[in-house]
Amino acid sequence: MRTLLKKHKTLLITNISQAVTFEGVSKKKGRFPKKEELAVLSNAAIICKNGKIVWVGPAKEVHSFRVSTKIDANGMVCFPGFIDAHTHMVFSGSRHHEFAQRCEGKSYLEIAKAGGGILSSVQTTQHAALQDLVTQLKKRLLFSKSLGITTVEIKSGYGLSLAQELKCLKAIARAKQEMGLNIFATFLGAHAFPKGYAKEKYVADICQKMIPTICKQNLATFCDVFMDRGFFNLSQTKHIFRTAQQYGLRLKCHADEFQPLGGTELSCALQAQSVDHLISITAHGIAALKKSKTTAVLLPGTSLFLGKPFAPARKLIDSGVRVAIATDFNPGSSMTQNLPLMTLLAATQLKMTIPEVLSAITYNAACALGIESEVGSLEIGKQADLAFYEIPSYEYLPYHYGQNFCKLVIWKGIPTAV
Ligand code: NIG
Ligand code: FE
Repeated sequence: MRTLLKKHKTLLITNISQAVTFEGVSKKKGRFPKKEELAVLSNAAIICKNGKIVWVGPAKEVHSFRVSTKIDANGMVCFPGFIDAHTHMVFSGSRHHEFAQRCEGKSYLEIAKAGGGILSSVQTTQHAALQDLVTQLKKRLLFSKSLGITTVEIKSGYGLSLAQELKCLKAIARAKQEMGLNIFATFLGAHAFPKGYAKEKYVADICQKMIPTICKQNLATFCDVFMDRGFFNLSQTKHIFRTAQQYGLRLKCHADEFQPLGGTELSCALQAQSVDHLISITAHGIAALKKSKTTAVLLPGTSLFLGKPFAPARKLIDSGVRVAIATDFNPGSSMTQNLPLMTLLAATQLKMTIPEVLSAITYNAACALGIESEVGSLEIGKQADLAFYEIPSYEYLPYHYGQNFCKLVIWKGIPTAV
């Protein structure tokens, strides 16, 4: 990838075959996204100034503007920069050996119970130096950016002690300083129980030591809990969430992935920003989501990778729940950063329409991070984060899967050629 220019006053991008603005999706807050709400502009141009979008419209109207730099998009399709709202991108080591075991019939939970799973990545991540984590993370982020992703949420959770969780969160902070991307850190100390630790003692450590220290150092925006059988239960999650809120962290929850334990209901009651996974969500959970402002983040890559059922996206969307899609990139249950590929899974497995799928990685994903007033659509005043795809139409994105057609990414008005 090559940064084309760092500083410019006004940047004009012309010759855009389709600018998918999501203006209508944004007006309806991402619920029931329909084709007309994508508000696709043909033969469009976009003008950015000081990192913001200042004009979007038909290319033929552009002559009245004075611009300092001009880029010819050569007929590419322009989307708002994509948003990967759920990743576990800070880890060291690989779990291909567990994947091989799963291919021989062992389940994810059986492997975890036998001491593998998350704890095996915890071991390799604990052994990595901060600088190694930063180097690996930056490499991964660069790859995400090459796909047109301009915002990434990254969870800690392979440290599981104060010092090690701090190391993971510092790696995220460092990458945030050094990369041209929007990065949001989530504290996921409650990802698993560390070996040889009494469960209640670990929950107490999270609440009394980890959350206060992390917040003092301003290292996270969100707090997440993996609430499931064999992991964190309802009362432990409630305790962690209440503490996190007292310290000003916003909430996210790994809920209803394997077993519905009330994680969605609890998260909605506490006004969480998102609930994620939801493969086993109940009618009661859907009803709670429907009444809330919480976004449902579905992770079809995880279902594919673990050979599990897919989340009931249709039921959620048809009930008026706002649905986002993310990669869940992690070494155990979804080893991919390919968010565009998730759009195919969303379309064919979650039975989502193209407008729903595209909203799920843009505007709705922005809602899952609470940043929808800044990114997620091509509207005047929003941050100039743009992804340009060399494809004949926006509908082509999920259709031609597994290949990267992104050729130009603009983050805060700064263009990078892929
Ligand atoms: O989101 N569900 C919990 N955590 C991850 C898996 C992490 C791992 O296996 O390393 C997930 O799927
Ligand atoms: Fe996850």
